[in-house]
Amino acid sequence: MSIKVQSVRGMNDLLPSETHWWQAMERAIHHVAAIYGYEEIRLPLLERTELFKRSIGEETDIVEKEMYTFLDNRGDSLTLRPEATASCVRACIQHGLINRSKARLWYMGPMFRYERPQKGRYRQFHQFGIEAFGWTTPDIDAEIILVAHALWQQLNIAEHAQLEINSIGTPEARQRFRADLVSYFGNYRDSLDQDSQRRLVTNPLRILDSKNPNMQEIIEEAPVMTDYLDSESAARFDRLCNLLASQDIGFTINHRLVRGLDYYTDTVFEWTTNLLGAQNAICGGGRYDGLVELLGGGPIPGAGFAMGLERLIEVLRQSNYDAELARPQVYVCTLGSDAEVEGLNLAQELRAEGIRTTVHCGGGKLSQQLKNADRASAVLGVIIGADEITSRTAIVKSLRTDAEQQSVVRSEIVETIQGMLHSKQ
Ligand code: HAM
Repeated sequence: MSIKVQSVRGMNDLLPSETHWWQAMERAIHHVAAIYGYEEIRLPLLERTELFKRSIGEETDIVEKEMYTFLDNRGDSLTLRPEATASCVRACIQHGLINRSKARLWYMGPMFRYERPQKGRYRQFHQFGIEAFGWTTPDIDAEIILVAHALWQQLNIAEHAQLEINSIGTPEARQRFRADLVSYFGNYRDSLDQDSQRRLVTNPLRILDSKNPNMQEIIEEAPVMTDYLDSESAARFDRLCNLLASQDIGFTINHRLVRGLDYYTDTVFEWTTNLLGAQNAICGGGRYDGLVELLGGGPIPGAGFAMGLERLIEVLRQSNYDAELARPQVYVCTLGSDAEVEGLNLAQELRAEGIRTTVHCGGGKLSQQLKNADRASAVLGVIIGADEITSRTAIVKSLRTDAEQQSVVRSEIVETIQGMLHSKQ
């Protein structure tokens, strides 16, 4: 016997028992993106490695250790996208989408990061993201946060999503902050954990993000970014807070929130949930006013977010979200070749009315066919045998209640079924 080939660790199949959750979530995403005036953009999964190195930053976890990078047959270095903001900016510059006009865009699809797989953290995962290009004002920061909130409302999970915001200022302000952080944490070098000692050299702001309980006391006393903001950044942050409050969006200001990608400027935010364990960030984003220019475009500001869809699905499950199952509403059983044709005809009529209909394939005894109908979780069964062909009728049977089956004349079957489905028979 040959050895079975398994999927790659951290890369999951989405089975039919789960995809109805995904479809319900995707419908909500399409709806919210449309009502906020965002247009879809579809981007390749593979990009030149350089794109991510330049945008996310050489000294971030993603670029240092999480990218799936390989040489193609020509020797070009390519990378499976670990996120899509960089790709989106690249595409906008390449196709001249944001030179003269502003743009509100969204995307959805798989991302790839070589992380240690655990619940809520995968090597292939999915994101829904939005990016808005061309606005310097904080109204767009508020808008993107409102889009995420609208999705929580659409999915009935607003009470489980908490918003944290912060401002990390301009690159110049951050330089000053960084220098002071290095000298502050430098005084405690021996008390820092290994990861933070490494970050002291590569990316000291990320030490603030450390979840290590032994580090918290040192982090508590560290300099705070707010003290380094210039007046413009401070005013922008104030305005954002006011706009969010005006729309009844609850939030907390978290001075330690820095995010793990280098392209952010000023506003950063994260939505977390109390329904998941350690991997509780369901959405992260912010402003990136220098990124378009860094990647060869004009001085065009941007802002956006991305949310992890596996985590969102888990929140939906935990909150008992009612995702409509894609199970058949009607299961048609037939006995004999004439009945088989009649069954096909009837199924086409039901489908034309939008009723999900499965026709039994493979013949067999009626009891076996009804067993299959039950296994498929159909609501109603239709039975057509030789007698029904002669009398131009069909038997309609509720599979979910004890109601008596009934013989219905052929011309009235579609209407009868519609009525029964409506009353959830
Ligand atoms: P990010 O924080 O790296 O930001 O990822 C956004 C979300 O993706 C996270 O909050 C989390 O829900 C999900 N996520 C990240 N890694 C994994 C993983 N290994 N497994 C499962 N879910 C994961 C970005 O990607 C930025 N591009 C967001 C952005 C858009 N900023 C501006 N525009």
